[in-house]
Amino acid sequence: MKHPTLLAASILLAHSAVAVNEYGCNINEQVFVTTAQQLVSLGLKDLGYQYVNIDDCWSDKQARRNPITHELIPDAIKFPRGISHVADLVHSMGLKLGIYGDAGTDTCGGYSGSLGYEDIDAATFAKWIDYLKYDNCNVPASHADQYEYSPEGVTTTAPATYNWSTSTTAARYRAMGDALRSQNRTIQYSLCAWGHAHVEQWGNTTGHSWRMWGDIMPAWAGKEQWSWGLMPIVNQASFLWNASDFWGHNDWDMLEVGNGDLSVEENRNHFAMWCALKSPLIIGTPLDRIRPEVLGILGNRELIAFNQDPVYGASARPYKWGYNPDKTSDLVHPAEYWVGMSVKGVHVFMLNTRDEAVKMRAVFAEVGLQAEGEYLVHDMWTGKDVGVFRGEVEVEVRRHDTAALRITEVDGSLPTGRA
Ligand SMILES: *[C@@H]1O[C@H](CO)[C@@H](O)[C@H](O)[C@H]1NC(C)=O
Ligand SMILES: *[C@@H]1O[C@H](CO)[C@@H](O)[C@H](O)[C@H]1NC(C)=O
Ligand SMILES: *[C@@H]1O[C@H](CO)[C@@H](O)[C@H](O)[C@H]1NC(C)=O
Ligand SMILES: *[C@@H]1O[C@H](CO)[C@@H](O)[C@H](O)[C@H]1NC(C)=O
Repeated sequence: MKHPTLLAASILLAHSAVAVNEYGCNINEQVFVTTAQQLVSLGLKDLGYQYVNIDDCWSDKQARRNPITHELIPDAIKFPRGISHVADLVHSMGLKLGIYGDAGTDTCGGYSGSLGYEDIDAATFAKWIDYLKYDNCNVPASHADQYEYSPEGVTTTAPATYNWSTSTTAARYRAMGDALRSQNRTIQYSLCAWGHAHVEQWGNTTGHSWRMWGDIMPAWAGKEQWSWGLMPIVNQASFLWNASDFWGHNDWDMLEVGNGDLSVEENRNHFAMWCALKSPLIIGTPLDRIRPEVLGILGNRELIAFNQDPVYGASARPYKWGYNPDKTSDLVHPAEYWVGMSVKGVHVFMLNTRDEAVKMRAVFAEVGLQAEGEYLVHDMWTGKDVGVFRGEVEVEVRRHDTAALRITEVDGSLPTGRA
């Protein structure tokens, strides 16, 4: 049994992707201070959300670096009192601050990257922040990998025995990781390498979390440019869920809960699956006009508790695909039946990938429980017990929704024979 460091870290709040779409690069001191205040006033801080993350576009795009010290220069219009002032305010509220960097010459938005400046930048970051998201744009040809691999398409010519930890990508990420570790500050290191170079094989020895795929977008399925809907990401997770445990986590990207045209059911599905996968929980919806039902989803204590479990570090795993034969890769119908353990019991997540409501059955024998046993079933969405069942429990799951059930002995204790 190990201690979960990620407890603190895996709940985060970022102003990235959609928030960036929302604000463009029009971020400023006030955006982050207001976000911090809202985290407190909406009760999200008390639930464990504790990082306020500054994404791309925070530094001075023209001046880039101090000509003498080579330190990054914050944008003086967006941050007239510097990043340190934002850090002081955020810290004074009992929260933590995150910032953004890039393992190339330039960030994705064209601001200065950190390649070759890792030690200087780590020292700068250590003056302010507690979390670094490190992106992967604008990598010069001189730093190209010997073999390429990206999870969304580039198949690799690497020999099966190739050690991806020796790739140039891994070296670029290690350089910043080593630089951060030599600072006198605890900094969560979030690798944003998009699953390239099989980051799931070396992320755990390099940082605390690692992005597994291209960017997320608020859509059920499909792809636009480099952004993907929910189901393609869950499909990838159906195969690579096992790289996460205590100390290191697959990052399935920030939460789109509350964004775009996602239905209530799709928002629920998204949050339940990200909790089940032990992904960092990074709110990506603007808090100033958050709808009550969205706040309710992001504030589900039982799902957050599963994500942050103090004893069971592993992600939930698919035990049955359902719609498709087991182990089928399908960007629209990934694995539908997932099981995971927590200190509270056996948790079954049943995800309806179909376009209509269906009845789904959690068969106890399929999740390591006794076939003829009687168990108490609890609904993690309503927070109420459903009843005592023998052999299986059947529930109707609405289109694109996810049932989140907790199964225990009838007296509420942890089942003995279990997944
Ligand atoms: C892969 O390379 C790393 C160095 O980057 C080394 O520490 C590790 O032992 C290697 N793994 C294998 C299986 O050879
Ligand atoms: C490291 O940080 C701690 C806490 O902020 C401080 O007490 C200590 O003096 C620092 N050590 C060095 C070597 O700077
Ligand atoms: C991750 O690394 C830690 C030690 O840093 C180790 O205890 C743990 O088993 C590793 N997890 C995986 C999934 O490799
Ligand atoms: C995860 O599963 C893959 C594929 O079955 C396997 O190669 C890998 O070793 C597993 N990783 C861990 C950390 O168990």
